[in-house]
Amino acid sequence: MPAATRWLDWLCQCTLLPLAYSATIADIQGPAFRSPLEGQTVQNVTGIVTAKSSSGFYVQSKPVQDVRVSTGLFVFSESSKVLNAVQVGDEISLSGTVSDFRSSSDPTFLESTEFESPTNITILSSNNTVTPLVLGVDRSPPTQDLSALDVGLDGFLTVPNNQSLVDVVNATMQPAKFSVDFWSSLEGQLVTVPKPISIGFENSFGEFWVRGAWEATSVNSRGGLTLSFGPNGIPDGGPESVIIGQPLDGTINPNMSVGKTINDVTGVVQYQFGFYYILPFTAPTVLSVPDPTVPATTLQFIADGCTVTLGDYNVDNIGPDSAHLPAAASDIATHLRTPDIMLMQEIQDNSGETDDGTVDANVTLNNLSAAIASQSNVKYNFTEVIPINGQDGGEHGGNIRPAYLFNPKRVSLVSDSSRKPIVAAWETTSGARFFTINLHNAAKVSGGSSDQGDPRPPLNGAVEQRIAQVKVIANFVQELLSMEPSASVIVGGDFNEFVQTRTAYAPFDNLLFEVDEVADIPPVERYTYVFDNLQEQLDHVFVSSAVALRKVEVEHVHVNSWAPDVNTRTSDHDPSVTRVRVC
Ligand SMILES: *[C@@H]1O[C@H](CO)[C@@H](O)[C@H](O)[C@H]1NC(C)=O
Ligand SMILES: *[C@@H]1O[C@H](CO)[C@@H](O)[C@H](O)[C@H]1NC(C)=O
Ligand SMILES: *[C@@H]1O[C@H](CO)[C@@H](O)[C@H](O)[C@H]1NC(C)=O
Ligand SMILES: *[C@@H]1O[C@H](CO)[C@@H](O)[C@H](O)[C@H]1NC(C)=O
Ligand SMILES: *[C@@H]1O[C@H](CO)[C@@H](O)[C@H](O)[C@H]1NC(C)=O
Ligand SMILES: *[C@@H]1O[C@H](CO)[C@@H](O)[C@H](O)[C@H]1NC(C)=O
Ligand SMILES: *[C@@H]1O[C@H](CO)[C@@H](O)[C@H](O)[C@H]1NC(C)=O
Ligand SMILES: *[C@@H]1O[C@H](CO)[C@@H](O)[C@H](O)[C@H]1NC(C)=O
Ligand SMILES: *[C@@H]1O[C@H](CO)[C@@H](O)[C@H](O)[C@H]1NC(C)=O
Repeated sequence: MPAATRWLDWLCQCTLLPLAYSATIADIQGPAFRSPLEGQTVQNVTGIVTAKSSSGFYVQSKPVQDVRVSTGLFVFSESSKVLNAVQVGDEISLSGTVSDFRSSSDPTFLESTEFESPTNITILSSNNTVTPLVLGVDRSPPTQDLSALDVGLDGFLTVPNNQSLVDVVNATMQPAKFSVDFWSSLEGQLVTVPKPISIGFENSFGEFWVRGAWEATSVNSRGGLTLSFGPNGIPDGGPESVIIGQPLDGTINPNMSVGKTINDVTGVVQYQFGFYYILPFTAPTVLSVPDPTVPATTLQFIADGCTVTLGDYNVDNIGPDSAHLPAAASDIATHLRTPDIMLMQEIQDNSGETDDGTVDANVTLNNLSAAIASQSNVKYNFTEVIPINGQDGGEHGGNIRPAYLFNPKRVSLVSDSSRKPIVAAWETTSGARFFTINLHNAAKVSGGSSDQGDPRPPLNGAVEQRIAQVKVIANFVQELLSMEPSASVIVGGDFNEFVQTRTAYAPFDNLLFEVDEVADIPPVERYTYVFDNLQEQLDHVFVSSAVALRKVEVEHVHVNSWAPDVNTRTSDHDPSVTRVRVC
């Protein structure tokens, strides 16, 4: 909080003429989200200092029976005089003001209870130890739901979002059921995560998500948590996970990837940047690293004039001279084994990110095709719909668009209806016709809120736009099928939305069928993206009933989700290969 805002708070509190209370940390924390003593000046608060940071220190008192009530408290102070006055292990008594503090950087963050303007710090004894609560032994996070306020068919993904605010409702906590309540009930306390396994990559601040040795659901073969439906039929937001922040002693966390294991982490629970963090005392060390080998797809071409293989890959802003173009080509040649048709997204124009009015991407696509040809025996042709300059988002000046690469020896383009998203009609060597639609729906980038934020269900940025886009596709397919009910239609691309947001896909009901579902891929292995604590599926392929009734196969090739290092990835999305029969 900027100093000016704190001054304002102080002035407001002054006008309330606070009375002095004597209180325990448990009294200050209380069983609800907000403190019963908010705004009050409190004296004679006692506890043992468990940790120090650059902006304060943590005190903890003896455990209490009520698991809803935290016995830890963050004392905010940037005064070196205050920070130097206490040492970890000191039992102290102090006075201060109770504040439910919300970081001013984002109005969707939760408030957290802290003790401000500490005075009269008295050291009662030194060298005391506080035994950390061992998660998974003493208490375990819930495995299914995030918040009691995520009501609706799709749980935390229910549309419309933002039906209530945690801090306004100020319910008493249900830590056995909801993760936001669970972590809030441990706010400021010392905890240990035994046997942590990393479930994502580190972010740019070196923070990373883990789960520990406790019960977990929706665990995939790599060790991560997949966004899928829980046993109650509601999307499982992966509450059995926690983010590890920057170490309190200034050491640097190791870099992470999905499936790495580290030694036990001990630290304090602190809400910041939209999540309940554990701030470790010191950086953990890596104990094991998963096998970096990603097997290539087994779904190869079958020369029967009826079978078609389709790859789907969002290549993350690729221009003709992008450093990752050779890697994308190599993924397509070696891991995807050159599918007959590639549905590509995020192809930049011929001048890449340079904003010079160029919109054609034939140089980009030629370069990609040439790079694939140099590593395989396939020379792809391509087709694209050239967008209007500056209209389609992505990297500035790049004019990203979906495009097709196709193997002219396997399929020929019958027509290209020249619209976005690209609709194409194809013919196989035996003359069988089928249609594809390649799309890239609006990104979630802006307007979203964290899964542990104040608005419930959390804000899902641009979901209304994506719902409209799905409707447009559904109407188009409906029209096509009304003319030709047995048409083979394949719709694929980056939908930027999970199928667990059922409302968003309602227009597809009984019209288009997701290949993962048709091919019966285990739900926990359905993912193309790693974000925060979850592996999730933003990229999908749907088929019409004529295709669904024949044999459908799909494989997600985790070249990027399984990367050993966030920076060696070709793209942030995994590609997939689908094999269908069109006659
Ligand atoms: C704080 O503790 C001291 C010493 O025990 C006592 O004199 C004082 O009244 C207490 N303050 C409050 C507000 O209870
Ligand atoms: C929040 O709930 C607690 C416990 O019921 C209550 O003491 C407190 O006054 C409430 N705070 C607000 C701001 O509603
Ligand atoms: C300061 O702390 C001491 C020791 O706990 C207590 O006796 C005294 O009342 C406190 N004074 C104020 C003004 O809080
Ligand atoms: C606390 O422990 C340290 C080191 O173990 C020792 O130097 C110091 O004297 C102890 N302080 C007290 C008050 O016992
Ligand atoms: C969410 O709801 C709150 C309370 O109704 C409102 O103040 C806020 O503007 C809403 N946020 C968004 C992004 O709609
Ligand atoms: C993590 O990776 C970055 C490159 O992205 C590198 O600069 C940094 O040194 C690495 N950190 C550690 C601890 O290896
Ligand atoms: C891509 O094509 C352009 C123009 O044909 C050429 O100048 C450039 O070197 C090519 N880049 C790569 C990586 O092949
Ligand atoms: C790209 O298209 C332009 C205009 O149609 C054409 O002049 C140029 O030769 C094409 N370049 C490549 C590499 O296909
Ligand atoms: C490549 O595709 C275009 C249509 O996009 C077509 O005009 C051209 O003949 C094709 N070339 C080959 C070699 O198939």
